[in-house]
Amino acid sequence: MSESRPGLHPVSRELFIRGMRQVASSVAVVTTSGAEGRHGATVSAFSSVSADPPQLLVCLRSASRIAAAVEGNGAFCLNILSHRHPHVAERFSGLHDGTVSDRFEGIDVQQGQRDWIVLKDSTAFACHVCGRLAAGTHTIFLGQVAHVQTSEHDPLTYQHGRYRTLAP
Ligand SMILES: Cc1cc2nc3c(=O)[nH]c(=O)nc-3n(C[C@H](O)[C@H](O)[C@H](O)COP(=O)(O)O)c2cc1C
Repeated sequence: MSESRPGLHPVSRELFIRGMRQVASSVAVVTTSGAEGRHGATVSAFSSVSADPPQLLVCLRSASRIAAAVEGNGAFCLNILSHRHPHVAERFSGLHDGTVSDRFEGIDVQQGQRDWIVLKDSTAFACHVCGRLAAGTHTIFLGQVAHVQTSEHDPLTYQHGRYRTLAP
């Protein structure tokens, strides 16, 4: 294919996606609870934004249930998954929605956390929504980080449509 040759080529949707599939990302689950109800979804489009004040961003498809729930609740928790949890990523990507009615069923949640749903063994950032920006089909939610759970586990990664673990 001519686009495979080195050098810049005019963008198309397919070329953009092909380039992005090369990117290795950590995998997280955005959880939210409150008046709009409890929900969670797997994401890889997230980033640290600032340490002073502590802020991060996550990109959610605007027409999704998770975007509506985060918007309505005004808060979310970004749970960075450990390499042991590809099945959690699959669950919250909706892969089993046809057979499991509640994505949280059987998922280990840290007990004793008020207001936020913190997944066990994740590095977790509990946020209040402090900004949003519509961008194409997605909404960029800016989160003001209020609480953090740390974890020593290596992160789960995703590249070329596959879950992977870091090499030593
Ligand atoms: C590895 C992986 C990464 C994903 N990253 C995102 C993402 O960054 N933003 C997004 O909106 N959806 C992302 N998705 C898709 C959502 O997890 C999926 O659409 C989910 O079912 C949304 O839930 P909802 O439709 O109940 O809101 C990703 C899926 C996978 C498997």
